[in-house]
Amino acid sequence: MKTTLTTTPPSQIETECLVIPVLDTAENNNGDKSAKPEPRLQTGDKAVLAAVADLFASGEVTGKMMETTLLHKPAGVKAKRLLLIGGGKAKAFTSSELRRLAGAAVRSLKAKDLKSFAFVAPNVRGGVEDSVKSIVEGAFVGNFEPDYYKSDRKEQKIDELVVVAAKGNDKSLKAAIEQGRIIGEAQNFTRDLVNEPGNRMTPTILADRAKQMCDDVGLHCEIYGPDKIKELKMGAFWGVAQGSDEEPRLIVMRYEPTRAPKKHVLGLVGKGVTFDTGGISIKPADGMEKMKYDMAGGAAMIGAMRAIAQLKPNVRVIGIVCATENMPSGKAQKPGDVQIAMSGKSIEIINTDAEGRLVLADGLHYAQQLGCTHLIDAATLTGACVVALGMVNAGVFANDDNFYKAFSKSLQKSGEKMWRLPVDEEYREMIKSGIADMMNSGGRWGGAVTAAMFLKEFVSGNTPWIHLDIAGVAWIEDNKPWIAKGPSGVPVRSLAEFARDFAAQ
Ligand code: BES
Ligand code: MN
Ligand code: ZN
Repeated sequence: MKTTLTTTPPSQIETECLVIPVLDTAENNNGDKSAKPEPRLQTGDKAVLAAVADLFASGEVTGKMMETTLLHKPAGVKAKRLLLIGGGKAKAFTSSELRRLAGAAVRSLKAKDLKSFAFVAPNVRGGVEDSVKSIVEGAFVGNFEPDYYKSDRKEQKIDELVVVAAKGNDKSLKAAIEQGRIIGEAQNFTRDLVNEPGNRMTPTILADRAKQMCDDVGLHCEIYGPDKIKELKMGAFWGVAQGSDEEPRLIVMRYEPTRAPKKHVLGLVGKGVTFDTGGISIKPADGMEKMKYDMAGGAAMIGAMRAIAQLKPNVRVIGIVCATENMPSGKAQKPGDVQIAMSGKSIEIINTDAEGRLVLADGLHYAQQLGCTHLIDAATLTGACVVALGMVNAGVFANDDNFYKAFSKSLQKSGEKMWRLPVDEEYREMIKSGIADMMNSGGRWGGAVTAAMFLKEFVSGNTPWIHLDIAGVAWIEDNKPWIAKGPSGVPVRSLAEFARDFAAQ
């Protein structure tokens, strides 16, 4: 999708469709929900306001979230159509809502076979640059469809987006468009990887795709197979990989600008289980097909590295993905087996379905060996996290309050929702083993927390670390106005924002 900027007055823009947000400025005092809506079109363009005057007078437009009104041949306006899109209460309107409006505009217009439109940037708290960037991100997100293997797949896509801004600093607005494009494309790049089924996204293929991406954007990339994984003594990672006929891959992507300070290195570690059957502790057949998205954390790290390579923040970042299948076979690890992780710690395997923490244990340790001083991991790690937070928020775990605070600022910018969960020492009791240093399962209670506690065992006490459990949010179950069902690409945007902030600190 081509994205351009214009400061032409909206009524003078020749386009298939001019999209303008409508916000409800009514103040609901004393919790009076019935207050009459006061819809305000987010433009001062007199000709446009005149074109919609009757429509507004009718009371049919309220500004309610995601309300759409389409007008053909608006009088006195050069656009062929006018699409009014509700953004809800003006007071609660932020770049997060705006991103969704842009996605919804794309999804509704491409369904009508339109190929281009212009979107009028409304005011948001972060300023006009933030508004422009969010529109572009949201539009890219809305342009993605997961129906890859349908032979009658409709190529309904928006090819060109024009963002309409009031006059401002041309250079910074163009930069905002560019950043929005980079981040939106990176998110879709990740969704593309996650969307592929297990037979078409093996560890080898995932590594090849990562390598190709790195070549394209100028990142250094190393790919390792079984020999190196064994040589590094990654016993936890290998314990999972040993049961599969597909070879595992250790993917290491490096963004190391020479001018960046040597002091801080951000490590991004992703779980890349390309299919999770559960292994010998096999999962029930019902819904098992969904376990093709168990590499979403790893795919997010690959997408984030892509965005970082293009955004060029002045900071060193190393991306690590531990890619493997989790299969039952005559070679597979068994409950009761003891594995020695790369760090030297011993693990009693209670449940072979708790494999994500095993591959991450070695990924996190290796990241520190490579010199990472700050760590973020992402994984579709536990069903328990889905029980706790549903499909709205990802779980965030952190061993350092300041690091968490910095990360939560990035969440504000990205609009991705996450909720902090604890990693108190008391929970460690639950993964104690009689035979080894720890067990790989802490049982049913607090399952998301005990999984995080397990990971914490592989992070040195003074290394700030954040763990993102994205099991509930990496896959969207139903179509939404602004995004198709299927892979979400969370947390690519937050990681890209975080890398930029981390460089600036
Ligand atoms: N990949 C799953 C977690 C998962 C569940 C992701 C649902 C997405 C949706 C993970 O490997 C797993 O199987 N976890 C087990 C851990 C248990 C055996 C301790 C779980 O959550 O049941
Ligand atoms: Mn599992
Ligand atoms: Zn898994």
